[in-house]
Amino acid sequence: MSHLPDTKRYEQMKYRYAGHSGLQLPELSLGLWHNFGTESDYKVTSDIICTAFDHGITHFDLANNYGPVAGSAEQRFGNILNDQLASYRDEMIISSKAGYYMWPGPYGEWGSRKYLISSCDQSLKRLKLDYVDIFYHHRPDPNTPLEETMGALAQLVRQGKALYVGISNYHAHEAMQAKQILDDLSCPCILNQVRYSILDRWTEKDGLLDAMDNQIGMICFSPLAQGLLTGRYLDGTIPVGSRASENRFLSSDSITAEKVAMLNKLNQIAVQRGQTLSEMAISWLLKDPRVTSVLIGASSVAQLKENLKAIEQEIPFTQKELADIDTLTL
Ligand SMILES: NC(=O)c1ccc[n+]([C@@H]2O[C@H](COP(=O)([O-])OP(=O)(O)OC[C@H]3O[C@@H](n4cnc5c(N)ncnc54)[C@H](OP(=O)(O)O)[C@@H]3O)[C@@H](O)[C@H]2O)c1
Repeated sequence: MSHLPDTKRYEQMKYRYAGHSGLQLPELSLGLWHNFGTESDYKVTSDIICTAFDHGITHFDLANNYGPVAGSAEQRFGNILNDQLASYRDEMIISSKAGYYMWPGPYGEWGSRKYLISSCDQSLKRLKLDYVDIFYHHRPDPNTPLEETMGALAQLVRQGKALYVGISNYHAHEAMQAKQILDDLSCPCILNQVRYSILDRWTEKDGLLDAMDNQIGMICFSPLAQGLLTGRYLDGTIPVGSRASENRFLSSDSITAEKVAMLNKLNQIAVQRGQTLSEMAISWLLKDPRVTSVLIGASSVAQLKENLKAIEQEIPFTQKELADIDTLTL
């Protein structure tokens, strides 16, 4: 795949600072949770990644357990990077995480220093990298002192294995405790990666954005509710190969006639705005300047290109549109 001249690539994207740091992330980032492991077609995955990069998506998000099979998304990404994008490494922000189950025994999940340091070392090997740009603790661990977990993140930065650190799935009070510990270690926490979409508002109820007050940036995962906030399920059928058809974290049973009717009403609002449902779902998150980046997944170049249109044209929301969306979803 040929790459666009640099100037063209960066004309197409806008960038926002991650919290109180000097690191800018694209408004749209690409996550490799599903669709990028060994079970996926190499060319399709490489085309999605290269197309994303060619459109100014500089940030690629991974974790130790992404695949399927766990670990294989990092391996696949490392191969694609080596084959096609090696000379662009300094233009890319590559993240990984540890926190969920990765290997058996007491040291293969959660938040101990033992697990985090070994997992980061394993990720670097799979990615064929000397360092990741961001390393996250993937989920809070109720049984490990937060000082130990945050100390391990700071250690990775001191060792040069990560440039920045973040947390993921941390509620407001946990995030602010983590921030304080990392500040004391002179290693700022730049991002909290959390699930946030029109259909999932836990962060609003938690007061997370207010609590983080732009000191920690928010990067929102599953912004399209794993495909529900797209055209994928609007006709009430489950397409072959979709996440719901394989019950991969999105169960086909959850796509009820009632839900499809609600999604179609949301789609009507999108159409009146001149957008598709997925474009509107992305714009809805980006309307808050405290959101650093919207972290999407994709299983095809066509999906990615549709989602990129949300960035091309900023269409502000009217109060009525916002109220109608809330009435349908809250
Ligand atoms: N920190 C955490 O705990 C955590 C947890 C989950 C995710 N994440 C991160 O967030 C990233 C995104 O999560 P996600 O994949 O759930 O996000 P998502 O953007 O809500 O869902 C992506 C899925 O939606 C469908 N889709 C996307 N664009 C579409 C379009 N234009 N038309 C039709 N369908 C479309 C595709 O489904 P099909 O595959 O069915 O085609 C795609 O795989 C992950 O890759 C990962 O990096 C982090």
